[in-house]
Amino acid sequence: MTQTVSAAEDARAVPVAEAVPASGTQRGHVFYPWSAQGVIKPMMVASAEGSYFTDDAGKRYLDFSSQLVNTNIGHQHPKVVAGIKAQADLLCTISPLHANRTRDEAARLICELAPEGMNKVLFTCDGSEAVEHAARLARQHTGRIKLLSTYRSYHGSTTTATNLTGEPRRWPNDYGSAGTVHFFGPFLYRSPFHAASEEQECARALQHLEQVVALEGPATIAGIVLETVPGTAGIMPPPPGYLAGVREICDRHGIVYIADEVMAGFGRTGRWFAFENYGVVPDLVTFAKGVNSGYVPLGGVIISDAVAASFEERVYAGGHTYSGHPLACGAAVATINAMKEERIVENAAFIGDKVLGPGLKELVDKHPSVGEVRGLGVFWALELVKDKATREPLAPYGGSSPAMADLLGACKERGLVPFSQFNRVHAVPPCNVSESEARDGIAILDEALTVADAYCGG
Ligand SMILES: Cc1ncc(COP(=O)(O)O)c(C=O)c1O
Repeated sequence: MTQTVSAAEDARAVPVAEAVPASGTQRGHVFYPWSAQGVIKPMMVASAEGSYFTDDAGKRYLDFSSQLVNTNIGHQHPKVVAGIKAQADLLCTISPLHANRTRDEAARLICELAPEGMNKVLFTCDGSEAVEHAARLARQHTGRIKLLSTYRSYHGSTTTATNLTGEPRRWPNDYGSAGTVHFFGPFLYRSPFHAASEEQECARALQHLEQVVALEGPATIAGIVLETVPGTAGIMPPPPGYLAGVREICDRHGIVYIADEVMAGFGRTGRWFAFENYGVVPDLVTFAKGVNSGYVPLGGVIISDAVAASFEERVYAGGHTYSGHPLACGAAVATINAMKEERIVENAAFIGDKVLGPGLKELVDKHPSVGEVRGLGVFWALELVKDKATREPLAPYGGSSPAMADLLGACKERGLVPFSQFNRVHAVPPCNVSESEARDGIAILDEALTVADAYCGG
């Protein structure tokens, strides 16, 4: 657009039907994140409800992606919409330096869900900022600089969060380590340790971490940042004992254990926090997404009493104009209350145990392209391969392939939108997905996978 538009003549003055093409895909003036602008064809979404969204041609899709795995409570939940409206009538915004009852209540509800000894919440506007602040809290608390994180992880798009990230989205943004060091977490299917069992993978991954800590210098390490269950990088539930081993290494060396629960938290794994599945208590917990399903941007860090004590007298140097935004906190209060009232976390556990887990695992035997299915709750990955014996991925690491494009096209044609990355499809519906919706999603995946099977062997 070359001409300037005054506030009075802004886009809202133009009828939407005239401003954009009637249907299909369009790019317009929006610069899309993580995309080559001339190549992407974003779907125009007109509306959404529960586990479905609808494009502007009226076609309905079962949302097996939860968008960017954030709509844990589904779309347009009436109690959350009402909570946002009520807060908008009461108070739209207020400085984070003032106290505010809605913000207080959101923090209280979050701490009530957290383990004993975690009684403070630093609010941010998203998950990347949450990771950024967890890093800063750990550094200021310990007086050390280095942060350790795993390959095959995603921690966000801001500077430190990107540097902590262990997947290709870091590559174009990596201008040096920024004090971050990567190590290998456990991943038996593609074991970096040549392990043959979960027990071996766990023991060897812990030995490897011990070595990295020893060689980097324990007294230089502020924190170890771990997605409890790595999400975008592959939904790899850690073997029993691994996180307890990490906790022990952190305790021994005075290192802050930071659990990144931005994707895995707030019901996704069938527990409020994913670390509850593994009997560990971190020092700092980052959250965002599911805390209010992203209806209004919100993230934060839950802080242990020991770390919080470091800032009783000393100023914590960090914050944002919108930290703990009242509309976002209003959405969080309504979301957490609705999730409790409607037993949505319990539903996620049930769907994982009884529907998604068994249903998706059956696909391994049925389809040559499905190498492994893994996950828990409403958090499942299908690892797709060209050849089950060699485990060669159906798309290269960091890339795509005609096989994956055709598979995703076949899902879309049949009214299903899963999450996907490289050679994987993730089945990650909302936590309140119904049994029949989950079964419908599996049935569509089953059909669509025959398209991927055609690329296997030979
Ligand atoms: C584990 C994890 N950490 C951090 C982030 C960054 O969150 P945001 O995109 O809200 O900045 C994400 C986003 O997907 C994530 O999955």
